[in-house]
Amino acid sequence: MPELICPICKNPLNLKEKSYLCPKGHCFDIAKSGYVNLLPPSPGGKRHGDDKLMVKARSRFLDKGFYDPLSQEISQIINELVPDDAHIVDAGCGEGKYTADVLNFLESKGKTAHILGIDISKEALICAAKRSRRLSLCTASTAHMPIDDESVHLVLNIFSPFMPEEFHRVLKPGGKLVRIVPLEVHLWQLKELIYGS
Ligand SMILES: C[S@@+](CC[C@H](N)C(=O)[O-])C[C@H]1O[C@@H](n2cnc3c(N)ncnc32)[C@H](O)[C@@H]1O
Ligand SMILES: [Zn+2]
Repeated sequence: MPELICPICKNPLNLKEKSYLCPKGHCFDIAKSGYVNLLPPSPGGKRHGDDKLMVKARSRFLDKGFYDPLSQEISQIINELVPDDAHIVDAGCGEGKYTADVLNFLESKGKTAHILGIDISKEALICAAKRSRRLSLCTASTAHMPIDDESVHLVLNIFSPFMPEEFHRVLKPGGKLVRIVPLEVHLWQLKELIYGS
């Protein structure tokens, strides 16, 4: 996976059994549910990002297949952009549908890929881990990713906050950004049903 750095001291993190350790002794355990929390502690243990219900609703919707054509298109584009053994970050990966689809697609094309999904919501990552145990997942803000400079071949950013300077920092020279943004009519029929026309 892309080279992780300690969110506290910025030194490299090394995986030892089920924990990531930095040379200064900061330690981050991989939760049983399959993600590592690399968010700096927040005052009062504040909840971050989408909650369980929001994540479940998104998964239920995506599992109906409406966005499968988009996911296939994204996977094909990424396959053309990355080398074998590519390091990819899905910045704001949510519940991991696209993250897992891309990994499965690249592998179906005979490529090895190391994909790290980052999201500020731990509930989203618990769900992403269920989609594929072969994804690496960490809670962090994409405004300050716990990733070394110039260590990533491609950043994927789908319907999630855009952090151009941070994406540029982690991309290798010549690295690629694939960004999906909603336009005015995104989910229009659904909005009409909910809000009226
Ligand atoms: C609209 S969802 C899109 C999720 C996924 N990419 C998809 O298309 O299904 C936006 C995601 O961005 C996450 N998010 C919002 N602000 C973030 C931040 N600063 N850092 C990381 N993730 C963030 C939310 O938790 C949520 O999962
Ligand atoms: Zn450290």
